[in-house]
Amino acid sequence: MKGKIPVITAEEAAAYINDGDTVGFSGFTPAGSAKVVPGAIADRAVAAKKAGHRFQIGVMTGASTGPSLDGVLARADAVSWRTPYQSDKDMRRNINEGKVRFFDMHLSALPQQVRYGFFGPIHCAVIEAAEVTEDGEIVPTSSVGATPTFCHKAEKIIIELNRRYPPNLRGLHDIYEPLDPPHRREIPIYSPSDRIGSPVIKVDPRKIVGIVKTDRLDESGTFAPLTEVTRQIGSNVADFLANELKAGRLPKEFLPIQSGVGNVANAVLGAMGEHPDIPPFHMYTEVVQDSVLALMRRGKVRFASTAALTMSTDLLETVYNHLNFFMKRLVLRPQEITNNPEIVRRLGIISINTAIEVDLFGNVNSTHMMGRSLMNGIGGSGDFTRNAFLSIFTCPSTAKKNMISTIVPLVSHMDHSEHSVQVVVTENGVADLRGKSPAERAWLIADRCADADFKNELLGYFYHIRDGHTPQTLAAAYAMHQQFLQTGSMRGVVWDDYFGVT
Ligand code: COA
Repeated sequence: MKGKIPVITAEEAAAYINDGDTVGFSGFTPAGSAKVVPGAIADRAVAAKKAGHRFQIGVMTGASTGPSLDGVLARADAVSWRTPYQSDKDMRRNINEGKVRFFDMHLSALPQQVRYGFFGPIHCAVIEAAEVTEDGEIVPTSSVGATPTFCHKAEKIIIELNRRYPPNLRGLHDIYEPLDPPHRREIPIYSPSDRIGSPVIKVDPRKIVGIVKTDRLDESGTFAPLTEVTRQIGSNVADFLANELKAGRLPKEFLPIQSGVGNVANAVLGAMGEHPDIPPFHMYTEVVQDSVLALMRRGKVRFASTAALTMSTDLLETVYNHLNFFMKRLVLRPQEITNNPEIVRRLGIISINTAIEVDLFGNVNSTHMMGRSLMNGIGGSGDFTRNAFLSIFTCPSTAKKNMISTIVPLVSHMDHSEHSVQVVVTENGVADLRGKSPAERAWLIADRCADADFKNELLGYFYHIRDGHTPQTLAAAYAMHQQFLQTGSMRGVVWDDYFGVT
């Protein structure tokens, strides 16, 4: 940077943003998210409110972010709408209280919908960068997400230049934006390690209104330690995949893995790494979490293509301290490419995501509690599940101190339908739903996956229904949920009450 772009304070940057603006922030998980300008925008919102004025913006990011973006803006009531994903407790509360309108989107679809103009103009992009040049080359930091599209569509760009990142990050990213229909061509990725774009985001430098200097760390939290349950889920997934390999239903080279977010996903990958019959594999995924790094160092993960490095701080430091090693094994891409249905299908991805609840027929709820309250959002799970070679969902068989069965007669909200979900895994076992009718699925899921006590309750439900292609009855399908809402436990539903048996 030779100094033609002015260095400004976070407060000066926030002054470029007005009530009613739509702002695209960098960040895919807390990795690479803008960290200081959002706080200054929140201060403006608080000051405006005190003076009796409204100040709220529409917030787009790649995916979730941390407390210094979603958290601070939510607490200041500075957000009128939010998309495509979040996982912050304050933002979640505002959404569930109806204060923030939230559009829960497939992450791959966000950038193209921004380009199509579905969200109106992007007034400003606030982007964390490791490097920016006076001719408009931007090197992102620990994520790419939707940043290239925000930069291209935004009227103004503010850069948060973060000195925490090493200056030699150039080369870690692969920036590629497809053309829009009717001009779109195939995206030429034939292997997870293919590079097809530019190492930098190129923008018109006249759009960059200022650079804010920062040195804030990513706010990626730590993972919960493995429990007996998460360890067993991981081991069940690994055994299942090893068996698929042995049976010849997976090619001997294995296939690239996509792994979801959270504690369970972290545990599953760890277990796959330990399994002696699973060969070294590639990842084509949207987040690389802690467990991947250890697998990479042991040679079990050969390469990972991702939109973000969502790691504990010390592990992220390890990546930056050994960039020569990791540059050869990692590439960071836009979410439109990491999650692209065309590529997921071409590469034959094995998708492994976590469910909140699964019903007896294989429908999956990834996003809502009791059909009503948002947890995080669908994220990339739909992009991968719908198009995978093999789609797997995992979850513990119970939640909330065993009072909730995650296996239910009918999901209280559906994100992934029985048509896309192939395998369900809990700590109790594996239900392989491929080639099974709804009735066969129901027996299998209750038998293999449910908690032992709830298994009888679920079979009791099923026992009362004799007909229909999908043996389901609307009168009783939510009896277990109702029981929980009334008593704090799903246990002890008396099915005869629902089925009118005397
Ligand atoms: N009913 C009520 N609460 C439930 C529940 C259920 N059926 N199932 C889980 N929960 C609660 C847990 O008790 C826990 O609550 P707590 O935070 O108060 O302890 C919380 O949900 C998270 O559960 P945990 O078992 O720790 O799961 P996780 O960290 O592995 O996250 C998801 C699970 C589903 C929330 C998370 O994976 C997610 O948001 N997925 C959707 C997006 C996605 O799949 N992206 C993947 C593409 S990369």
